[in-house]
Amino acid sequence: AHQWRGVLREYADRLDISDATPIITLGEGGTPLIPADALSHRTGAKVWVKYEGINPTGSFKDRGMTMAVSKAAEHGAKAVICASTGNTSASAAAYATHAGLTAAVLVPEGKIALGKLAQAIAHGAELIQVQGNFDDCLEMARELANNYPVHLVNSVNPDRIEGQKTAAFEVIEVLGDAPDFHIVPVGNAGNYTAYHRGYTEDLVRKASTKLPRMFGFQAAGSAPLVLGRVVKNPETLASAIRIGNPASWELALAARENSDGYFGSITDDKILEAYRILSAEVGIFVEPASAISVAGLLERSEAGMIPKGSTVVLTVTGHGLKDPQWALRTADGDEIVPTVVPVDADEIASVLGLVKAR
Ligand code: F0G
Repeated sequence: AHQWRGVLREYADRLDISDATPIITLGEGGTPLIPADALSHRTGAKVWVKYEGINPTGSFKDRGMTMAVSKAAEHGAKAVICASTGNTSASAAAYATHAGLTAAVLVPEGKIALGKLAQAIAHGAELIQVQGNFDDCLEMARELANNYPVHLVNSVNPDRIEGQKTAAFEVIEVLGDAPDFHIVPVGNAGNYTAYHRGYTEDLVRKASTKLPRMFGFQAAGSAPLVLGRVVKNPETLASAIRIGNPASWELALAARENSDGYFGSITDDKILEAYRILSAEVGIFVEPASAISVAGLLERSEAGMIPKGSTVVLTVTGHGLKDPQWALRTADGDEIVPTVVPVDADEIASVLGLVKAR
């Protein structure tokens, strides 16, 4: 038996790498595709969840970062830079450190989840809080990469999308064909674009017989692709996708067109409802942005847009431990405080409602 070797080695024949490329890997990819019976029962579709929280830094970004940092190292870069709502910065920091490079990360001040902030700092990144939103951070990162010796590793770097397309290959390997629908959260729309590319390549090489319809969901307060215009002050509790001017806008529109796809928006309340359904009924813990895939499925299913018996894959993009505060409140916003008891088995049994076996 051998262990999973990371996406560059596993898919070396389908990526632009050569013997000259140093393989910077933390073993990303090879994530589970989990049948979600509770969601299948709710919708009448066959629903699978691609759990990208099970990556080395806890998000799908690692698939793109192994490629981007390996290529940066191949080109002799000494430092990488990115703008981030949190996950990209955690991933860039880890892969840069592994490669012996430095990482500078620009994040919107006070707007990224604590777990992600801790990751970037733990991995030794130069973390800078910018007094602006993500879109401002990306503008700064691009400007710095244009004028200083730092290599940009946001998804505007094509190497990122290339690495991320491997998730579609994995889905087809498990299902034996492409699903009918694939649903992803959308921020910059890089991942939406990457899945479509992976599915397209597998269709071309006849590993599958169809393209899935690509459905992407944005938070209602940050839904530029749905509105068809830039959102100046994007808002949502799903901080990972609080983005008003998606970097991969044009590529994503082309992918939607080509796959007969769809962009929809979901309110924060519905995101949290889906977050609870996924953790309490399926057993998968994600961050709020990831739960939008579940909310999108339920919304489209209720609208009659997902035929019974369809195969649907939902990508959930980031681990719940990155931003766990949402699990500690009820739907009404009340704090959940676990019961405290003395060291007394009978009292614990009584709290649990257990009746003594005789
Ligand atoms: N889900 C999570 C958990 C994310 O962190 C992101 C993006 C997305 C979905 C959206 O993916 O941008 O390819 O459409 N996070 C970026 C970051 C912006 O900086 O970590 P996308």
